[in-house]
Amino acid sequence: MLYEVVFLALGVIVIALVKNVYNKRRSEQLLAHILTHTFLDGDNSRKRYLSDLKTLLESGYQEYQKNEQAFKITIPVGGYSVKYRVILPKSHLEEIKHLSNNVFSCRYFAQSLPQYKGHAATINLMEFFVPTITSLTNALLVDSRLSSDPEWLQQTADFAVNRYGAADDVRQWPPCLAGLIAPFIPSVKRLREQRTYVMQKMKPIYDELKGQSLLSTDDKKNRRKGTFGYEWLWSGAPDDVTLQDFSDTMMRTLIAAIHTTAKTISVAFIDVLTQPEFLAELTREAREAVEDDGQSINLDKLLKLDCFLKESQRLSPVFLFTMNRILTQDYEFKCSGLKLPKETMITAPAAAIATDPEIFREPNTFDGHRYMRLREEHKESASSLVLGMSTIDSLGFGLGNQACPGRFLAVNNLKLMMAKLMISWELTLEKNGQEFQGPRPSMEYKDFSVVPPSQFSIRLKKL
Ligand code: HEM
Repeated sequence: MLYEVVFLALGVIVIALVKNVYNKRRSEQLLAHILTHTFLDGDNSRKRYLSDLKTLLESGYQEYQKNEQAFKITIPVGGYSVKYRVILPKSHLEEIKHLSNNVFSCRYFAQSLPQYKGHAATINLMEFFVPTITSLTNALLVDSRLSSDPEWLQQTADFAVNRYGAADDVRQWPPCLAGLIAPFIPSVKRLREQRTYVMQKMKPIYDELKGQSLLSTDDKKNRRKGTFGYEWLWSGAPDDVTLQDFSDTMMRTLIAAIHTTAKTISVAFIDVLTQPEFLAELTREAREAVEDDGQSINLDKLLKLDCFLKESQRLSPVFLFTMNRILTQDYEFKCSGLKLPKETMITAPAAAIATDPEIFREPNTFDGHRYMRLREEHKESASSLVLGMSTIDSLGFGLGNQACPGRFLAVNNLKLMMAKLMISWELTLEKNGQEFQGPRPSMEYKDFSVVPPSQFSIRLKKL
């Protein structure tokens, strides 16, 4: 009997190990569609990557920038799901910063909000913003076929919730068994079904783009410019990019985009609606930013809103820590002598830095003019004090090579949605169905992520 148990246990462990190796190989394939840039002299040792990354980035930039192509470089990291860093061409960043306002002919604004003068409605923050942002992100990154399909929108809104739930469920098991048990966990099964669903839905789009050589690196002259966010995700994809890569990348990007943006705007609305003086000031600014066509909003003019949102993010960031990384070798910090072993997961205390009194005066007070003043006081570095810029003191979007690649899109979405709502509707805050005029509440966190309080909603009256 004892032999049988030992034999069984060994079998389980061997299977888990094999599966682990298989999973690592598989994750390598996920970025196979983006060209890998390596050292020109052929020395691609781990040591070289660690010591000479600057040269690699510079030569990659020169080689790919002229073709406006993304490229990837290897991160010499074992035991971590991200094996590469993808470097976007400069030209793409500008485009994302200046995305068209037309995307705001968004169905959800028209369908869910009162459209006739004097009519009013109440919306729950997350219940409204998750589907709105899902619809908007799909319109930008996918295309009209899917972004107008209610089932697709529902599924994409569910991914993020289910993905985090599945990760929590898997983490309940010891690492060596987790891979083996995972396929039987209901939330994981559901995630896998969703993955298959996404692949089925993406197939016609993939086939169409591939049929027209629009996913090919060799046929750039045919490439459709600026039609979809595909350009952002897929420029540089080789001809052999698989449907699985194509749909997985889309799924992962949607997961990263939707709830983060919805949480940020929900918190920002609680901040602005509990401080009427700011609501008046920001509404004035938004009205002055409306272009001559009466529809579009000049985002560059929403400076006060940018500063307000940055303060809101400082005090209630979506994530309490960002820049989660895993050490690839034993490490001794030169600044302190702190020694950490290989495979330690390290992270930056983003929220704690944001309330450090040595960095921010009266750090726990919400001061919607704080960043306006800081910009005035530090004119030479004012551009680093805008919402989309990551610095050591401002880590809401992470920092460095893995800082959030969607932050410019997120910033524009946040500003456009807030401006549109403030311009066209009279807004008040409700708590448990009653008008709320109390002070700004402090936000709750579940694990490391903010939970916008569900008892708050917005009352909107069409102007
Ligand atoms: C307010 C909204 C958002 C917040 C607060 C946010 C925050 C973050 C943070 C903290 C990271 C980790 C960065 C690091 O570790 O250094 C991240 C990664 C990421 N974000 Fe965002 N994000 C937002 C919106 C978006 C949007 C709109 C997209 C896509 C359209 C997006 C796509 C991604 C992706 C793909 C990653 C993974 C990058 C990597 O691992 O290399 N995010 N985001």
